[in-house]
Amino acid sequence: MPAINKREKWASKIGLILALAGNAIGLGNFLRFPVQAAENGGGAFMIPYFVALIIMGIPLMWAECAIGRMGGRYGQGHTAGMFELMWRHPCSKYLGMLGIFIPFTIALYYIYITSWTLAYGYFSLTGDYFGVATRETMGAYLRGFQGVESNQYFSSISPSYLAYLTTLGMSLYIVYHGISGGIERLGKIAMPLLFLIGVALAVRVLTFGTPDPNYPENNVLNGLGFVWNPQPERLTNPTIWLAAAGQIFFTLSVATGAIPTYTSYMREEDDVALTGLSTAGLNELAEVVLGGTIAITAAVAFFGLAETEEIARRGAFDLGFQALPMIFQKIPLGHLFGALWFLLLFFAGVTSVVALTQPVMALFQDGFGWSRGKTTCVVLAALFLLTQPVIFFLKHGFLDELDFWVGSFALVFFALIETIQFAWVFGMERGWNEITRGAAISVPRPFYYVIKYVTPLFLLFILAAWAVQDVPNKIFMVGVKPEDAPYVWGARGMMIALLLVFGFLVKIASGKKGERS
Ligand code: TRP
Repeated sequence: MPAINKREKWASKIGLILALAGNAIGLGNFLRFPVQAAENGGGAFMIPYFVALIIMGIPLMWAECAIGRMGGRYGQGHTAGMFELMWRHPCSKYLGMLGIFIPFTIALYYIYITSWTLAYGYFSLTGDYFGVATRETMGAYLRGFQGVESNQYFSSISPSYLAYLTTLGMSLYIVYHGISGGIERLGKIAMPLLFLIGVALAVRVLTFGTPDPNYPENNVLNGLGFVWNPQPERLTNPTIWLAAAGQIFFTLSVATGAIPTYTSYMREEDDVALTGLSTAGLNELAEVVLGGTIAITAAVAFFGLAETEEIARRGAFDLGFQALPMIFQKIPLGHLFGALWFLLLFFAGVTSVVALTQPVMALFQDGFGWSRGKTTCVVLAALFLLTQPVIFFLKHGFLDELDFWVGSFALVFFALIETIQFAWVFGMERGWNEITRGAAISVPRPFYYVIKYVTPLFLLFILAAWAVQDVPNKIFMVGVKPEDAPYVWGARGMMIALLLVFGFLVKIASGKKGERS
């Protein structure tokens, strides 16, 4: 019955693309992107942003999809095993191990943040924060919810702790059901809904007009202008280039090891080039069109330019969890729109959470031959235990320290190693063949040279700029309150311990392979 086979094949491809889109589309698209754009020159930010997308983001996406499919061919679902395939040297697996360490460590705080969106969705429906009238009091509400102010965790099970347990449990329940029965199914439901909700919210924001006639300059057009009007004079400032490159890494989920693990489930005849491009395309649609329209535009329409700048400067959480909830209180059907906004974030978050767990799952399943059930239990326990300091030491900067080293710095480092492995050690001829073999689109030949020369040079440049600009301040804890220093050291200790543990596990797993269908 060829018709059915064809349909099945198509369904499995869509499943993979939606799973990959779920992987890439995350909180970064709706919270991090608008803040980065607004903070770094508005429309001018979009120039380095698209440059970074083309010379770094898409090449890395293709390389990672190709590395993953090749790994799958040899039963390797994690980058430690995949790196060994590309470079048969004892060090190789330890470099590839970063692609397990990074997503696992990001998961420790990403799950926690995702759980806030679940709770806030509920609070919107029930109107819990309705009546909390200023940004300051909304901020206090957020800190109260997080237990930052009162240490209420120790006295009772707080709502945020419950939300965290629910999110962790739900995510691992999906993971337990495997790639096709869990993650692809989640993608097929959550991604279309996410786009639907995103469009509904964007339309709602665009029809805000001028909410308060007493302040005619607080309107939607000025909001769009804030994100999009270019300030070309800022292009010469290296900071906005670094910010743009950082956003591209983060939003596409590249350089974390999560993409290759997903594509290791591809079959030989599946299309790397088109899959990679579709994933990047869907992510950019969600980010630039929806993420760029909803939050910041609404903030300008209601609070005006000056205050929105202040909100953006204070970061993504101020925008998502303080400014927007105030707007929901002022508009008709605010309960509903509030719930939709946080549901959008929750879908974006959960589909990324399950992706973050996959590399370490693959390490145990492929490298140790463990069953999926056993692996899920162990990963659940490890995530649960290690997230505790992130939750309890939130106000002492524990989360921020992890995010800087693992969520920002390590990505650039890993991307550089990965491109060099792929284009120079494995070899660009073979690499190009992996990307283009069986592809329905023809990848423009210039990308051969981009991946070989431009991407690694660009990465080297970013790494050097970081090493000079940010890393020394971070190392010497500039701006860290003295009483927080022990917690920052604690976060560092935890990262080093995790590196050692993963190094040890990878050493044992080396050379073993999983069974793949
Ligand atoms: N792309 C995700 C976002 O935009 C964040 C992320 C980075 C991620 N690396 C990842 C998610 C790896 C899953 C797997 O929020």
